[in-house]
Amino acid sequence: MRVQVAIVGGGPAGHLLGQLLYKAGISAIVIEQRSQDYVLGRIRAGVLEQGTTDLLDEVGVGSRMHAEGLVHGGISLSFGGAHHRIDLQKLTGGKSVMVYGQTEVTRDLMNARAAAGLPTAYEAENVSLHDFDGTRPKVRYVQHGVAHEVECDFIAGCDGFHGVSRASVPAGALKTFERVYPFGWLGVLSETPPVAEELVYSNHARGFALCSMRSHTRSRYYVQCALDDKAERWSDDAFWDELRRRLAPELAESLVTGPSIEKSIAPLRSFVAEPMRFGRLFLAGDAAHIVPPTGAKGLNLAASDVRYLARALVDFYAGDETGINRYSETCLHRVWKAVRFSWWFTSLMHQFPDGGEFGHKLQEAELNYLIHSPAAATSLAENYVGLPL
Ligand code: FAD
Ligand code: DHB
Repeated sequence: MRVQVAIVGGGPAGHLLGQLLYKAGISAIVIEQRSQDYVLGRIRAGVLEQGTTDLLDEVGVGSRMHAEGLVHGGISLSFGGAHHRIDLQKLTGGKSVMVYGQTEVTRDLMNARAAAGLPTAYEAENVSLHDFDGTRPKVRYVQHGVAHEVECDFIAGCDGFHGVSRASVPAGALKTFERVYPFGWLGVLSETPPVAEELVYSNHARGFALCSMRSHTRSRYYVQCALDDKAERWSDDAFWDELRRRLAPELAESLVTGPSIEKSIAPLRSFVAEPMRFGRLFLAGDAAHIVPPTGAKGLNLAASDVRYLARALVDFYAGDETGINRYSETCLHRVWKAVRFSWWFTSLMHQFPDGGEFGHKLQEAELNYLIHSPAAATSLAENYVGLPL
């Protein structure tokens, strides 16, 4: 098979890139190692920046998101026994975020891809990348026992943090930057009404907690946990008790609990690989960088990477190589700002083993500063809704 672009990884980055290229008339295949159901079973991001929703509209998959997603003009910070609203809309000149699950974004993209009859290879095993230091790269894989080879002009590595793309770049060609945080997030999805209308980020002496949602009847909650903790060790009751303890009393009292639909632990990490291009291989999304989820930036960065990549490829086929040559630099400029914001918000909201009482006092002082200083609140708000593309 021959296509212009072979996309390795069928998560949100790969599928969004596929749709952008399709709209631009550039042929592509998406090669995904898992089944469609497996990809859709991973509960992850929930908050989309306007730049991301604009992009979903641009490729024609925004209608269900606008019908079912929840537009939020603010978030709350909970600490010291009370919660305080940060008015994102007022502080950013009218910008808001869309609460719509990553699973649904991916489902909408997968459905659009299938409806257009575009090639997607699910359950692709032994995916390997070849000759991307020249002009005729290849991707090989085995699907249901049959070996396949795809010839292409470019490979887009959209296969997440543990994928094969970044690992295929010769040692020494990439420089990596990393911080692993000494805790994880235990997440629970439940068919219960959310505790508040907007998201609540809580700083508490027992650890961070986040109240999010997927709809008016479905909630998503997270609590900071130990890195070596296991989701199986947490009964639903133990989770709800812990969450309640970490919320301001007014919220804790109105928490509606119920059986969990999903329970999992995610480690927290900041990671960047530079550059994001090697020859004709371009890395995008989690394949190139990871941010801790506190700032809700990972999926949004994946979307901005593939937006830059799609435009660069369109320019390339029109005879202009500037975009592909500047791809890494352009992405990294935005990536590092999101890495900084996610690190800052994580540091502000979590309990660190070596933080001590001094650390907690500093966090309280900064949170008080944030809720009383329009300058500080504006900085949080403009990063949260997303910096300009
Ligand atoms: P992935 O979603 O990891 O997709 C990569 C795909 O490649 C996968 O389907 C994988 O199966 C496939 N793959 C892997 N290896 C191979 C291979 N060898 N060959 C072929 N395919 C392969 N982000 C936000 O913006 N907002 C949020 O609110 C938010 N909350 C989060 C909460 C949690 C608990 C977590 C864990 C993450 C959160 N994120 C959030 C981050 C977000 O989920 C990721 O940044 C996003 O999934 C990145 O998309 P991606 O397509 O780059 O990578
Ligand atoms: C969700 C996840 C986040 O990391 C975040 O900051 C906000 C919301 C969520 O899963 O809903």
